[in-house]
Amino acid sequence: MTTLTSYLDTNKNTEITPALKDVITTITEVGKTISQLLRKGALADILGEAGQENVQGETQKKLDVLANDLLLDALTHNQHCAGVASEELDDATPANTEGSLLVLFDPLDGSSNIDINMAVGTIFSILPYQRQGHLSTNSDFLQAGNQQLAAGYLLYGTSTVFALTVAEGVAMFSLDPDTGDYILIENDVRIDADTSEYAINSSNYRYWLAPMQQYIDELIAGKTGVRGRDFNTRWVAAMVGDVHRILCRGGLFTYPFDTKDPNKPGKLRLMYEANPTSLLIERAGGAATDATARILDISPTDIHQRVPVVLGSKNEVDYIKKLHLQHADND
Ligand code: F6P
Ligand code: MN
Repeated sequence: MTTLTSYLDTNKNTEITPALKDVITTITEVGKTISQLLRKGALADILGEAGQENVQGETQKKLDVLANDLLLDALTHNQHCAGVASEELDDATPANTEGSLLVLFDPLDGSSNIDINMAVGTIFSILPYQRQGHLSTNSDFLQAGNQQLAAGYLLYGTSTVFALTVAEGVAMFSLDPDTGDYILIENDVRIDADTSEYAINSSNYRYWLAPMQQYIDELIAGKTGVRGRDFNTRWVAAMVGDVHRILCRGGLFTYPFDTKDPNKPGKLRLMYEANPTSLLIERAGGAATDATARILDISPTDIHQRVPVVLGSKNEVDYIKKLHLQHADND
């Protein structure tokens, strides 16, 4: 049996530096606390909107706010962490000027799932920091996803699972609630290039671009259409859950470009959601694009920018990309 601690210690990969080990351990320790709070559910008096009062007249903290505060506090106290950026906070928080790492996180992805007892997760990304001696600022975080030193997520589902990529490959661990250890359950996660399963919120159909409408039309036509086989939909409503399913059994996930809100080119956040999940998916043999360009090569201009996302089994991702490029040529 291999624990996360022994995996990080004994992994031959020299790119797992002591600083990375320490920061990853901090994140997974906070993950245990978040997992316990979620297990208690309504009993922990944590459900509902932040700012509301509970029966004792105390102000409640919504669980995503609580998860954010726990991660922020633990990471800013980690000596290796030079700065922390959260999806929940407008600006990054500078931490230790001698630290070599920057950490970004989505504290509770899919948080609307909490109130209905469904899966949610914590997604994180770790970037290098090179301006030792100076306080980090938002602009230090504006690095392409291909610069990530590590990325992963904690999924709080029927069990708590931790997925991690550092330097190469993807490993998966399961939290043993009795011992508090993360136990290695998969050393080298791989995604098949082909799939018959896809995830999309189809209620946005009328806002999509023509190539995405064409793609979904073809999947729905199944055996009777150009694809010549049937497809099946699965939608967790928490990206982290859909990504986990794809790492487990393949599939295609997309939150594509839409015209619903002209100020938002996509729904998902590049730095907290798209980059870390794209790194995991690529390292497991899948692909991730905004429909035409590789997500990991996008140069960010804002820590909170949004991006269209298409990721998962390589042949489907490539096919969607081909449809978009063909349409662009015809325009
Ligand atoms: O964080 C954004 C998010 O909650 C994702 O986790 C999820 O995939 C998506 O939004 C769900 O969006 P919708 O409301 O369209 O189902
Ligand atoms: Mn999210």
